[in-house]
Amino acid sequence: MHKSVQDIVNMKKEKKKISVITAYDYTLASMCDKAGIDVMLVGDSAGMVMLGYENTIPVTMDQMCMFTEAVSRARNNALLVADLPFMSYQASIEDAINNSGRLIKSGADAVKLEGGSIMAETISGIVDVGIPVMGHIGLQPQTTMLSQGYKVQGRTRDSAIQLIQDAKELEEAGVFSIALEMVSHEVAQIISETVSIPTIGIGSGINCDGQVLVVQDLLGMYDKIKPKFAKRYMNLSEDIVKSLEDYKSDVESSKFPAEENWFSMDSEELKKLREQIGS
Ligand code: KIV
Repeated sequence: MHKSVQDIVNMKKEKKKISVITAYDYTLASMCDKAGIDVMLVGDSAGMVMLGYENTIPVTMDQMCMFTEAVSRARNNALLVADLPFMSYQASIEDAINNSGRLIKSGADAVKLEGGSIMAETISGIVDVGIPVMGHIGLQPQTTMLSQGYKVQGRTRDSAIQLIQDAKELEEAGVFSIALEMVSHEVAQIISETVSIPTIGIGSGINCDGQVLVVQDLLGMYDKIKPKFAKRYMNLSEDIVKSLEDYKSDVESSKFPAEENWFSMDSEELKKLREQIGS
């Protein structure tokens, strides 16, 4: 049985740190799940690392549903959260509920959306129909990026107060957890101590209740942006490119395929065939 929303909420009470990783495809999601990661997040960062967009703005509901279905086929253990992409929830509560429903039908256990107090009513609407919601404050790539670019949030007293207020209102609206993206570590700590639900940090310091990373960043597979907070555990892209170069060279020098990589006909059948076609 995979982890439930309540299991993740309980981890904060039990003072157990929560590991979250993004996942978008069957193969990598199978490995994340096997590693015992607590939550797999089908993030709209898929638009950048899987589809090559400059940012997350162009991502569609159809794309998010496809990624969510692939990850859901791979998971046995983790909770599965999927992002609502840009403009799938901002225009109306009805949109937000319908699109959350689509992600749940695609295999997600919960949805995540960006925004502070301004999203409280929308979140209540989704939670009221029985769909668990994860909030996301601090840097909000779908909108902060349009006005400010990549910028640490909560560095001044005013912005800290706003973030703390946002977190409280999201909790009241019913979120089961809040992602804190690029929030100063002091403010992330205050928020984590203030709310009773788990905070999941990305670039927000050690005092969050859990941490999330984009899987391609962790594995060293995406070079376009290298955020300071994204710890690389390996340099997989170098190994992959080297293997592909070796393959190309083997093809060019006829080293590949070798006998163990091909299939043979029955020798008698081959003899008859040659006689028949006169070769
Ligand atoms: O889309 C994403 O990957 C995210 C995480 C960075 C939290 O929202």
